[in-house]
Amino acid sequence: MLTDEPVPRESPANWSPFACPDATIEVLARPRLVSQRTFQDVLDRRRSSVGKTVDWTSIADLLWYSAGLKGYAQAGRAGLPIGWSASPSSGGLQSIAIVCISDDGSASRLYDPVNHAFVVLPADGAAVSQENRNDVLSVTGAENGCTLRLIGDRSKLLAAYENADSLLFRDAGAVLATICLCAEWLDLCACPLGFLGNSLLPQLDLPTDRFQAVGAIQISGKIVPNAPE
Ligand SMILES: Cc1cc2nc3c(=O)[nH]c(=O)nc-3n(C[C@H](O)[C@H](O)[C@H](O)COP(=O)(O)O)c2cc1C
Repeated sequence: MLTDEPVPRESPANWSPFACPDATIEVLARPRLVSQRTFQDVLDRRRSSVGKTVDWTSIADLLWYSAGLKGYAQAGRAGLPIGWSASPSSGGLQSIAIVCISDDGSASRLYDPVNHAFVVLPADGAAVSQENRNDVLSVTGAENGCTLRLIGDRSKLLAAYENADSLLFRDAGAVLATICLCAEWLDLCACPLGFLGNSLLPQLDLPTDRFQAVGAIQISGKIVPNAPE
């Protein structure tokens, strides 16, 4: 059950990273501009909202600050790779992957937080984008922007813990809050989305016996009243 107490395994199970056959890699530049806004201002002003469409560079910058790994070790808890980012994660296992789906209909991208790169997925980008647009519209009444789908690698947590399921959802909550705060800091709109999102995994060629979708966040551009487009 989701509420069963997690316990580190005495004998860790086997785990290996997921390989995306036919994916291409897009290496990203580290952001050079740092927002001048204070943490106090970010805490005061963060609100959930959906604005206008947003470019991929803004998404990449947001991901670097909120999810990019600032430290990494090949073997930590249970001998598994661990890492450190702005979000805490159970056992340092960083079990939440982020798949980005833009309203521009282009290919979906899995964020690689170790190398700050996008893994461009071979799935049909236009079809996934349309399905995603419907999902976002159904829970927000809006559809602009890029959806960051949080996809838990359940197999990694299960390799390290018995009763790991609640850890996955708590890890997702930590990532969600960090992304929302970083989005505000970067003057972007962020809106958590209430669905889990498992139904899209087959279309993304992500196996459902390994991955569990654990929510999403809609990122978009802020609409400044009376500003030229
Ligand atoms: C787990 C979670 C799921 C949410 N799902 C939705 C959603 O599906 N649609 C939506 O418009 N807002 C959603 N929200 C945003 C909440 O409605 C919002 O956080 C709340 O009204 C408080 O407003 P604030 O975020 O502006 O402070 C969600 C928030 C969380 C934490």
